[in-house]
Amino acid sequence: MSVPLFDLRVQYRGLQKSIEEAMDRVLASGQVILGPEVEAFEREVARYLGVGYAIGCASGTDALLLALKTLDIGPGDEVIVPTFTFFATAASVIRAGATPVFADVEADTGNIQPREIAERVTPRTKAVIVVHLFGQCADMEPIWRLAERYGFYIIEDAAQAFGAEYQGKKAGTLGHLACFSFYPTKNLGAYGDAGMVTTNDPEWAARLGRLRVHGMEPKYYHPDLGWNSRIDALQAAILRVKLAWVDRFIDARRAIARRYQELLNQEQLGYDIAPLAVRGYGKHTFNQFVVRVARGQRDALMNHLQLHGIGTEIYYPIPLHLQPCFRHLGYRGGDFPVSEQLCQEVLALPMYPELTYVQQKQVIQTCAAYFRQAVRLAA
Ligand SMILES: Cc1ncc(COP(=O)(O)O)c(C=O)c1O
Repeated sequence: MSVPLFDLRVQYRGLQKSIEEAMDRVLASGQVILGPEVEAFEREVARYLGVGYAIGCASGTDALLLALKTLDIGPGDEVIVPTFTFFATAASVIRAGATPVFADVEADTGNIQPREIAERVTPRTKAVIVVHLFGQCADMEPIWRLAERYGFYIIEDAAQAFGAEYQGKKAGTLGHLACFSFYPTKNLGAYGDAGMVTTNDPEWAARLGRLRVHGMEPKYYHPDLGWNSRIDALQAAILRVKLAWVDRFIDARRAIARRYQELLNQEQLGYDIAPLAVRGYGKHTFNQFVVRVARGQRDALMNHLQLHGIGTEIYYPIPLHLQPCFRHLGYRGGDFPVSEQLCQEVLALPMYPELTYVQQKQVIQTCAAYFRQAVRLAA
């Protein structure tokens, strides 16, 4: 039996009827971009998160650019970002015309290290993009203090953390603006691309609403230089169906993570495979279940799992400061040792709400078989 890294089909079978009804409602209405369905979705997300405004857009990548543009961040400005994250976090800063300033992360969670932010603040620092990596919030308390002291904005990149919490507050309410992705594999996933920006500020909300439609308001008048980043009504209607289930999906992910930990303990794999840490300050949503693999065994273990039909992924194989397209920023190997090491060791195991215990057992037993064989070969 093969175990994919994620599988959207099982969930679709469970929700098929409601999704078909929602899609039919949109198609019959004739309003397929923005409109009442999108407005209803935005209201429902704002209520779920406990935030004033939620503005749908075309993707998580666009959400980041919309957030930066709303804050007038551009040439001459610096934005601190973790180097261990998805490409879009830093690329959005360059797309806005500003300069990303990389920071290292915590070795045990992969989230940005607050001390690193403090060390990199300059008079040109306009914002920090805080990524809630793999579904767990970054440690916000020290970052809030730094933002207060130095007067920079906090933009949350909550693409992987819909539903996550920090000190009882949801991701998306922890900074000045927050960005979500509804890419199909996210905690709340569309059947295509979609994204969102959230904020409590009515003026920023109004600007976000304009920027996503070419900066236009009223029609064919353009106070802002925006672009087309609209969200489809079909995606909004599907996401409304899934939003009603999202807490159950997240609970399922958390239960799966606990079971992985139990299975790793049972197989006594603690020395070889260490899941990233879960902090006590909030609610981890396990958009990904990421482990560190010791002693240079990661790639060989990954190949072994693939050979046995088990899907895994490396988030991320190269830290952003070493990406060829960011070479002009002047960073070098060794600049961010924690992130560089994580890139050598991390491996994401299969994770989606419908993953079964039998499948998980197969994943961990296959890992255990690999390490037994590796020990035999080394002996
Ligand atoms: C941390 C992070 N930021 C940004 C994005 C970009 O989102 P999207 O794929 O919707 O453009 C993603 C998703 O892939 C992500 O994981």
